[in-house]
Amino acid sequence: MTTPHIDTESDEQTLLRILSPRARGCPYPLYEKARRAEPVWVEGRPVVVFGSYEACRSVLRDPRASNERRHALLYAAGGGAPGEADVAGGPEGAVAPVAEIPSFLFMDPPRHTELRRLVSHAFSPRAVLRLEPMIKELIDDLLDEAAAQGTLEAIDDFASPLPVTVICRVLGIDTGERNWYRTRSALLGESVDPYPAFAGTQTPGLAERVRAERELTAFFTRLVADRRAAPREDLVSALVRAQDEGGLDEAEVVTTCRLLLNAGHETTVNLVGNGLLALTRAPDQLDLIRRDPGAADAAVEEILGLDPPLQLVHRHARTDMDVLGTHVPRGTTMVLLLAAANRDEAAVADAGRLDAGRATPRDHLSFGLGPHFCLGAPLGRLEARLAFTRFAQRVVAPRLTAGPLRYRRNVVLRGLDALPLDTDGIRDRSVPWETPRP
Ligand code: HEM
Repeated sequence: MTTPHIDTESDEQTLLRILSPRARGCPYPLYEKARRAEPVWVEGRPVVVFGSYEACRSVLRDPRASNERRHALLYAAGGGAPGEADVAGGPEGAVAPVAEIPSFLFMDPPRHTELRRLVSHAFSPRAVLRLEPMIKELIDDLLDEAAAQGTLEAIDDFASPLPVTVICRVLGIDTGERNWYRTRSALLGESVDPYPAFAGTQTPGLAERVRAERELTAFFTRLVADRRAAPREDLVSALVRAQDEGGLDEAEVVTTCRLLLNAGHETTVNLVGNGLLALTRAPDQLDLIRRDPGAADAAVEEILGLDPPLQLVHRHARTDMDVLGTHVPRGTTMVLLLAAANRDEAAVADAGRLDAGRATPRDHLSFGLGPHFCLGAPLGRLEARLAFTRFAQRVVAPRLTAGPLRYRRNVVLRGLDALPLDTDGIRDRSVPWETPRP
């Protein structure tokens, strides 16, 4: 006789378990519990958690829901707040870093709109399409390197170097030291975790993050000085020009560069990594992409919906507000579980199934919504589409190696630490990108 499972865990315990490294492998049952219990108030803290599609959508579009932490009581109470690490950069290198200020991701309109507009042209669908030949070349180079070494660790060899190289090229940064940026931007990715909101403590590794933040700020401060002295055809030079025309100040130039490096890298690594894992587990989907590279577009939306690179976002109530009948007092931090919302069957049919052959593309909130809708969505989609396509075409019979999967400790930017694959080889790059139609 089996004993019926009696769930005695409180909503608060569920939230705390979401923070646990043990939950990284599969947090989805916990998200589902949190969604069913919505709204979940964190006891003794001005924090409420939403996980339904409708509630997340409504908060993301609500102008009363702010991205600025000065509106959060949580922060005023000294509990720390989600967002960029609150540190001031000390002098480092030849040029002293400018003061740390929040990036436009953590600003509200109108300043948010003005700063976003200064870089948005570089990430428009048309601008991004011009990057396609470079991205294809890079993907083939990475697969050639893996073929030459005879092993494929899909995160370190493929998913991670791809976006960091692409965003470095867009910004105009030397890609020779990409490991240097990778390790620092990965550390900064932890500063958006919701430890302060749920547990009232800081994420472990604060000192390392502070150091990484200072080093990146010092690096960009020097880069801005270099580009001012000798401008090039790159985004950093364009921002320096905008500064000279009075569009923004130097601290904003530096913080915007850091945001773009960080946002353009961490999320896309996880999209490609989570996608390669899911596709390796579903060879029929890889076949679909191999037969029809058009299916790779749908596969990208499937992965975004099923296993989003950015699992949750925060908003702060700048005034008393109402979220689908829930009264949210001014100063409350709202945690929006995008990864839970995407699997809300009330909004997304067959939400738990990976199916790149769906009749209508899957809907999801993985790029956010409203004024902060992901600026890099066209770029992230393009990189992932090309990566999935080429993986399907060149990597023969990929299989997971024995042993447990290792996830990074991040909660918000959840992704694999490593994805070693067994294969029957990697085809050479002469395989055509476009599969001839039968
Ligand atoms: C490919 C996977 C990606 C995912 C899942 C993703 C997800 C998101 C999400 C959810 C937001 C909104 C955050 C919020 O509302 O608080 C966001 C904002 C942003 N993303 Fe992405 N992103 C991705 C790729 C990229 C890339 C490649 C870039 C390139 C630069 C980028 C740059 C940004 C920027 C600058 C913002 C801030 C926009 C604003 O505040 O107006 N993202 N992203």
